[in-house]
Amino acid sequence: MLAIYTYLHAPCVLKQKTLEGRLNNLSASALYKNNFKNSTIMKSLLLTTSIFTLMMYEMPKLPYANNALEPVISQQTIDFHYGKHLQTYVNNLNGLVPGTEFGNKDLVTIVATAPDGAVFNNAGQVLNHTLYFLQFAPKPAKSEPTGKLAEAINRDFGSFENFKKEFSAAAVGLFGSGWAWLSADKNGKLVITKEANGSNPVRAGLTPLLGFDVWEHSYYLDYQNRRADHIAALWSIIDWDVVGSRLK
Ligand SMILES: [Fe+2]
Repeated sequence: MLAIYTYLHAPCVLKQKTLEGRLNNLSASALYKNNFKNSTIMKSLLLTTSIFTLMMYEMPKLPYANNALEPVISQQTIDFHYGKHLQTYVNNLNGLVPGTEFGNKDLVTIVATAPDGAVFNNAGQVLNHTLYFLQFAPKPAKSEPTGKLAEAINRDFGSFENFKKEFSAAAVGLFGSGWAWLSADKNGKLVITKEANGSNPVRAGLTPLLGFDVWEHSYYLDYQNRRADHIAALWSIIDWDVVGSRLK
């Protein structure tokens, strides 16, 4: 069957674009140029455009240049981490989901519901890294959260400094590869969790706000074994407006 729609999903920007119009244009052109306007094949082709869908996941577009986060994150690390590792997760996911029960599902739904395995691992890493790369700014306008997020952090962690201390401890102390996340539960309460490998807090019904990647591929070129130094440096490039916008 002919697949028509391309589904593009990022946690912050959920968008859906259709190729139907493009196909219809191509079809119309062919119809008139080749004078088979009444072709059964072409009619069938156009009919199926509105029925069958194919979900495709795409790379998030970085809102900064690959070298803009230096010296906290080097261009070389962005080139590999974003350009190679994340691209591979995206490619893997696009190769895994067509024809499965996840073929028409959005990314968050897949991460929340897929059984352990390749689909979950790759979907989780696409979601994780999309949130991760979009939460940075070379020169953030604010050095700490404001508004609703600041209030929630003060309420649930006592102070921003104490939150940073607890979050950093979770990231530094996570054994092996994984992620430290700040999330909100269904009541708006903030929690810090450690997620192994490619998991994400959505699996526990939480809304992820801020994530630190502690897979060695995220820091080893710049910091080697000094994970704590990498974690300490990350605070200076957090775009708190982006993180705050994730708290509904
Ligand atoms: Fe990573």
